[in-house]
Amino acid sequence: MVIAIDGPAASGKGTLARRLAVHYGLPHLDTGLLYRAVAMALIDEDRSLADPDAAASAARTLDAGSLDDPRLRDRQMGEAASIVSAVPAVRAALLDWQRRFAGAPGGAVLDGRDIGTVVCPDAPVKLFITASAEERARRRHRELGGRGEAAAYEAVLDDIRRRDARDAGRDAAPLVVAADAVVIDTTALDADSAFRAATDIIDGRRAGA
Ligand code: DC
Repeated sequence: MVIAIDGPAASGKGTLARRLAVHYGLPHLDTGLLYRAVAMALIDEDRSLADPDAAASAARTLDAGSLDDPRLRDRQMGEAASIVSAVPAVRAALLDWQRRFAGAPGGAVLDGRDIGTVVCPDAPVKLFITASAEERARRRHRELGGRGEAAAYEAVLDDIRRRDARDAGRDAAPLVVAADAVVIDTTALDADSAFRAATDIIDGRRAGA
């Protein structure tokens, strides 16, 4: 069973995807990390994020071992990932990798922006996790504070709005709700309630409901 989870930045999709993977005993891929790792490779090599050829070459030579680097979670890396992810050749270079992961026997959980629309269009379960920009900024602000990376709430909200606009406005695999995805708005839901809503949907699908 492939579970495709998409949604905007800081919507809670990553937390939910990790919990679902444990619950159903499936491997999990946070595809945002791939784009973050491409951005980090460029930054480490002092290359411009705006150079599409350098970005495509970093994507083609991506070292999967670098996906554990804690720097990938930094605030600036989300923004940098959003920039390189708009380059079609970067997306193409990462596509096979993601599809191979999704093809694991027994299935997998993948989360990102285009899992249900491009990476796994035939996934039997597609969830689109969203929340208001203000609530997502509150969560991200709290999370950054907890990691000692303090930032003003307004600045975090600006980041989120800018990323939403870029991720949804690009030509290559923009963030859109797949026609057959179920939307879960977590603005007023805590993590446990979002998890229950998701398992209700998934268990219903598996039972053929
Ligand atoms: O999920 P995240 O915040 O780690 O993702 C970082 C950026 O990577 C996001 O702003 C857009 C891009 N991304 C993408 O274009 N497609 C994906 N499947 C996952 C992430």
